[in-house]
Parts: sequence; C-alpha cells; structure tokens
Amino acid sequence: MIPRGGAARRLCSAAGDLLGAMEQPSAWDRFYACRERAGATGHFEWFFGYEVVAGLLLPLLQGPRAARVLDVGCGTSALGLGLYQDCPHPVHVCCLDAAPTALAALQRLLRAAPLPRHPGSRIHLCLGDATDLAGGGFAPASLRLVLDKGTCDALLRCPAGPSRAGQLVAECLWALQPSGQLLQFSDEDPDARVPFLEWAGAAGVSVRELGIPGGIPYYIYTVEKPARD
Ligand SMILES: C[S@@+](CC[C@H](N)C(=O)[O-])C[C@H]1O[C@@H](n2cnc3c(N)ncnc32)[C@H](O)[C@@H]1O
Repeated sequence: MIPRGGAARRLCSAAGDLLGAMEQPSAWDRFYACRERAGATGHFEWFFGYEVVAGLLLPLLQGPRAARVLDVGCGTSALGLGLYQDCPHPVHVCCLDAAPTALAALQRLLRAAPLPRHPGSRIHLCLGDATDLAGGGFAPASLRLVLDKGTCDALLRCPAGPSRAGQLVAECLWALQPSGQLLQFSDEDPDARVPFLEWAGAAGVSVRELGIPGGIPYYIYTVEKPARD
C-alpha cells in the first residue's frame, strides 16, 4: 500500500505508526494532523488520484434520478468531491470516514471548490464507521455505487484481519441497491482479493487492471450484491 506524492514522503513518524494500526481512527487522525502540520493543504491520495478513474466512474452515474454514491474511508481524497463537481447528471455523494481530522480538512477543500456541474448534485461529509453503516443511519439497498480506495486494504492489515474487512464488504453490499456496485481500488493481487471478496459475500467479482504511470499494478474490483440481500 503506497501513499502518493511528495508530501507523503515527508510524513514523519505518524506514517510509520500507521503500519500496525490501520484499523484505528486515532492513528489515521494523527496521520492527517501530522500532514497538516507539515504544511500540506491539498488532497492526499492513497494509490492514485480521482483523475485516473473519473472516465470510468462518470458513465456509471447516468440517469434522470440522482445516483447515490458512498466513498467509504474517504480520507481527504478528491474521489467523492471530484464526482460531485464533474458529474453532468445529478449525484448525491456521501464521503464517510472515521477520522474527524480528515473530514475537517476535506470540508475546507469543499468550501474552496467550484459549484457542481449539475445544480441537483449534493455532497455530505459523514463521520462514521464503515463497518457499521446500518448503525450510522444508512438505509438498506439505497446506494447505486460504493467506492473503496484503500480502506478494505487498510482493514485487511489490522490484527483482526479478514473478519473486520469482511464486515466492511458485507455492510457495503447491504447498503447497495440490487443492481448497484461496490468498486474497490487496490494494489492487492486478484489471487488473494477475489477469494476474500467471495468469502465476504460477493455474488460476483470482476477485475480490471489499471495502467498507472510508475509501473505499479493497481486493480479495480467490481463486486456484485447477492440477490437475497
Ligand atoms: C488507506 S486510507 C484511504 C483514504 C482515501 N480513500 C484515499 O484514497 O486517499 C484509509 C482510510 O480509511 C479510514 N478508515 C479506517 N477505518 C475506518 C472505518 N472503520 N470506518 C470509516 N473509515 C475508516 C481511515 O481514516 C483512512 O482515511
């Protein structure tokens, strides 16, 4: 798992602390706070930025009714904000994270951002636990798209390992509409990720490799909801 950008490389001890504590919001809070103290005010992107996947995501949001989208473990990424700004169709984006410092920084970036392309588009920043969407007030079968860039990867590295990450996947599938999709962006090899996603409850998984400058293979996992959910 590789943080991107020069600011990430300067990221002091908080980045090192994260390695054994990626499931702990307090460790992420320290990471984002440390980044701010180092003078970084822009988006921080795990793996890659919004522009890499914008062309794949925007066509999924077509339609007369506002598509509801959730970015789980958004951090300060531009993923949700970019979709909100650029989508030519109405979109309701929720950016959810358990680290208050990340959401405060994202709120500042949102205030400075231009108005969305579609006047019916909305964005909300939500403090909450992505492994308990029901407890956070989300409704079942309510979302067209759930995006996960690096969050499942982070939970997979925690001591509880697959069980906590499996909880995340199960909650995302529960919140999806029947034809909705969970998209995970990851550097984990399909040989490991596909069996994990099937174990976690996916009805189907397809994989696409993203060609990224720098030569690191990244993957998009498209995860389908089982019919019974
Ligand atoms: C690897 S970072 C990815 C951040 C962002 N998606 C990106 O692409 O830059 C993982 C993020 O997940 C958040 N996170 C970890 N556990 C969480 C949980 N249980 N609920 C919500 N967010 C969580 C962390 O605060 C962190 O911002």
